[in-house]
Amino acid sequence: THEHNFLQCLYTHSHNSTSISTLVFTKTNSSYSSILQFSTQNLRFATNKTPKPLVIITPQEVSHIQTIIACSRNHGLQVRIRSGGHDFEGRSYVSEVPFVIIDLTYFREIKIDVENRSAWVQSGATMGEVYYKISRKSRNLGFPGGVCPTIGVGGHISGGGYGTVVRKFGLAADNVIDAQIIDVKGRLLDREAMGEDLFWAIRGGGGASFGVIISWKIKLVQVPSIVTVFNVPKTLEQNLTKLVHKWQYVASKIDENMYIGVILQRVNSKLNSKSTTVQALFQSLFLGGIEKLIPLMQEKFPELGLVREDCIEMSWIESVLNLYGFPKGESHEVLLNRTQASKDIFKVKSDFVKVPIPEIGLQGIWPMFYEDGAKDAFMYLFPYGGIMDSISESEIPFPHRYGNLYQILYSAHWHKVEKMKFNWIRKLYSYMEPFVSKSPRGAYINYRDLDIGVNNINGYTSYKQASVWGVKYFKNNFKRLAKVKTRVDPLNFFRNEQSIPSHFTKR
Ligand code: FDA
Repeated sequence: THEHNFLQCLYTHSHNSTSISTLVFTKTNSSYSSILQFSTQNLRFATNKTPKPLVIITPQEVSHIQTIIACSRNHGLQVRIRSGGHDFEGRSYVSEVPFVIIDLTYFREIKIDVENRSAWVQSGATMGEVYYKISRKSRNLGFPGGVCPTIGVGGHISGGGYGTVVRKFGLAADNVIDAQIIDVKGRLLDREAMGEDLFWAIRGGGGASFGVIISWKIKLVQVPSIVTVFNVPKTLEQNLTKLVHKWQYVASKIDENMYIGVILQRVNSKLNSKSTTVQALFQSLFLGGIEKLIPLMQEKFPELGLVREDCIEMSWIESVLNLYGFPKGESHEVLLNRTQASKDIFKVKSDFVKVPIPEIGLQGIWPMFYEDGAKDAFMYLFPYGGIMDSISESEIPFPHRYGNLYQILYSAHWHKVEKMKFNWIRKLYSYMEPFVSKSPRGAYINYRDLDIGVNNINGYTSYKQASVWGVKYFKNNFKRLAKVKTRVDPLNFFRNEQSIPSHFTKR
C-alpha cells in the first residue's frame, strides 16, 4: 500500500539523523487523533466524514522534512503542511486524495534581535508567541500581524496577514526581510538562494504552493510606550445605520495611528431582554495617549460621542490581549497557550469595499441578522488606508491596496455539524454584490473560501480554470505567481484546492 511503502521509505532514509520513528503517527497510533485535532481550528473538518491523513509527521529537523518530501513524491502521496491549523477551509489537514500531514509544531523557535529590530521566527510558532517574546524584550517594539493569538506564523505570513496596526505598518508579509524554504527537490533555500521571484511569491501568495517554509526573518516595528483602546457598542436604537455610514468615510482616512474596526452582530436588547437588536461594536486602537485621541475623534468622528471614560491607556502588548477579548488583568503568558482560541464550526467569506455603502444598502443588511442562520454570525469591517494606500499592488502578491476603504469578513457559526447550512452566508454575500469590489470581486486568501472556485484536485488544472479564484485573491499578480510556480515546482507536487497552477502541461 501507499502507506506501507511511504513509511518504509521514511525509515530507510532517515537513519542518519535523530530517529524519525517517534515523530510518525499512523491511524493505529493512540496519539493519532489528539495530534490531528490539536490545531484543527475549524471543527467543520473534525467529523467522521472528514478525510483523514494516512500519516501525520511532526518533524524536528530539516532533514526529516526533506525525507518526507522525497518519500511522498516517490510514493505518490500528497502532503499537507500545517503550522497553526487556522485555515478556514481546513486545507492544512484535509485532502480528498491520499495524503500525509507535515505538522510543524516543533518548528517554533523565536530569536529576537532588539538591536537590529528584527527576529527569526519559525513557522510553527503562533503569532501570540511572537508578540509575547517581542514584548519581553522591549515595550517599544511590536509586529503587525493578526488579531487572534493562536494563528500560525507559517500560514498567516504566507497569505499576507494583518491586524490592528495595518494602517501604520502594512501587512505581516510586508515586514519580512528573509525566509527559509525547503523546495520540491528538498533544498533548503534562504532569500539569496531562492531568488527574488520566489521570495516575492511566498510573501502573500498563500502557503502550500511553493514548498515548506521553515522560518521568516521579520522586521520589528516601533510602537509607543502608551497606546489607547476603546470598545464602544451602538445598537439600531442608537443610530447604528448613520454611525456605520459615517464610519466608512472616516476609518480609512483618519490618522494612520488610529484603527477603528466594526463588528456587526445580533445581540440581546438591553431595553427588553426578550428581544434582540443589531449591534455595531466600534473597536479601536490608537498608537498614542488619550490626550491626543479625544480631540482627534471630536474632529473626525464626533457622532460616535467618544468620551474619556470609554478609553483605556495601556502598553502595546496589553492592547493585543484586550482587542482579542481577554479580560483586564489577564496574564501575558496566556499568549503562549497554543489552543486557547475557542474552536467551533464555521464558514467565512470576504469582500473589499471601495465606495461607501449608502444608508439604504446598510439597512438591507440588518434584517438578515434576525434570520435563523445568523445566530452567532458576525461581519467584521476592517479599515484600510494609511500606508496600505502607498504600497504598490505588485510589491508582494497581496494586491488589495490603494482605493480599498475596508475589508469585510463574513462569518457564520454553528454549534453542531448537523445544523450547518451555508445558505444564509451565501445569501448575504450575494446581497452585498452591488456594494463591493467588482471585476474581479476581491477576496483574501487568508480568509480562504472554496466557494469562489477550486482546482481539479487529482491532476492538472489549467491557468485559465485556476484564474477563476486566482484573480480574486491576487488580481494581476496571479500571472507572476503562476510563472514562479512553473519554475520552482513545474510538476505541481505542492498542490491543493487553491494552490497556484503550473503552466507545465504534461500530465
Ligand atoms: P494553517 O496551518 O492551517 O495553514 C494555512 C495554509 O498555509 C494551508 O494551506 C497550509 O498548508 C499552508 N501552510 C501552513 N504552514 C506552511 C508552511 N510552513 N509552509 C508552507 N505552507 C504552509 N488573518 C488575518 O490576516 N488577520 C486576523 O486577524 C486573523 N484572525 C483569525 C482568527 C481565527 C480564529 C482564524 C481561524 C483565522 C484568522 N485569520 C486571520 C486567518 C489566518 O491568517 C489564516 O487562516 C492563516 O492561513 C492561518 O495560518 P496557520 O499557520 O494557522 O494555518
